[in-house]
Amino acid sequence: MEPSQVAIIGSGLIGRSWAMVFAAGGFKVKLYDIAQEQLTTALENIRKQMKEMEKLGVLKGSLNAEQQLALISVCTDLKAAVEGATFIQECTPENLELKKKIFGQLDLTVGDSVILSSSTSCLLPSKLFTGLKHVKQCIVSHPVNPPYFVPLVEIVPHPETDPSTTERTYALMKKIGQSPVKLNREIEGFVLNRLQYAVISEAWRLVGEGVISPTDLDLVMSDGLGMRYAFIGPLETMHLNAEGVSSYCERYAEGMKRVLNTFGPVPEFSGETVQKVNQALSEKIPAVPKVLDARRKWRDECLTGLAKLKTQMKSD
Ligand code: NAI
Repeated sequence: MEPSQVAIIGSGLIGRSWAMVFAAGGFKVKLYDIAQEQLTTALENIRKQMKEMEKLGVLKGSLNAEQQLALISVCTDLKAAVEGATFIQECTPENLELKKKIFGQLDLTVGDSVILSSSTSCLLPSKLFTGLKHVKQCIVSHPVNPPYFVPLVEIVPHPETDPSTTERTYALMKKIGQSPVKLNREIEGFVLNRLQYAVISEAWRLVGEGVISPTDLDLVMSDGLGMRYAFIGPLETMHLNAEGVSSYCERYAEGMKRVLNTFGPVPEFSGETVQKVNQALSEKIPAVPKVLDARRKWRDECLTGLAKLKTQMKSD
């Protein structure tokens, strides 16, 4: 049987990763971009990454790297790229007008069963899709960078998205080995970034007020909270840290509220604290491309190892 086909619109960091995830799942992938050289670089980069992962024994899916690469083709013609696709994942720069233009073009081209999905990090579906003829088929599937190693996908519907679009997207994400979650309605920042920004704000206030150094603040997460958050979420943490959630609330609600009431206002993320954090981080990891790239590579290796461990430890 011919493998199902997906189209990826935009071949940058996230588009490449989606292409690899879908190819690992056995899908035929058409990668579209406005610039041929961008596509050429994307393909070279995908090949390099797949070969490396194959060597390390961490390539996803049941096909080998060459077989997966053979599933990916590139294209600079939007109509040709989406022809035959059952799912389209848009990965263009985070710019509302640009994305609206692309979805407007796709709206004129696609049939009634194709799913139009956006990778947007923070544009609400109501901003992206309102007024489209195929709005029922539109959805946000927000990945986490790097999607190949971090499987979470936030699925966020437009108020007019058909429930079957949500269900099909959810099932597809599962099928390709990602870990989808469904939001029942759109909300600024979706869920991942709301949690992330809550953590960043308090980190920023603590460092800004001189309570702790930037380096030690990061350790609190990487050697403390983060260790368990890779396996259980904050709610299960409550459940396990007492005799269930009710018992946790009975014991700790007053304490949590007392602490939460001391949290400060939303930081400005400017001025002295920027300098302080930047200086500390730059001493540890100079902000030059070579060093940043090496550190990103190390981070991805850590995530690969963690992904392996999570598979071994899977409990459900
Ligand atoms: P990027 O800048 O690496 O890639 C964007 C790609 O889109 C480039 O290849 C560019 O040539 C192409 N492009 C520009 N205009 C186009 C057009 N009219 N038609 C087709 N392609 C076009 O951006 P990145 O980081 O891959 O982000 C893509 C989307 O994914 C954004 O919406 C971003 O918010 C979202 N996202 C990004 C994450 C990240 O950490 N980078 C994480 C999760 C989501």
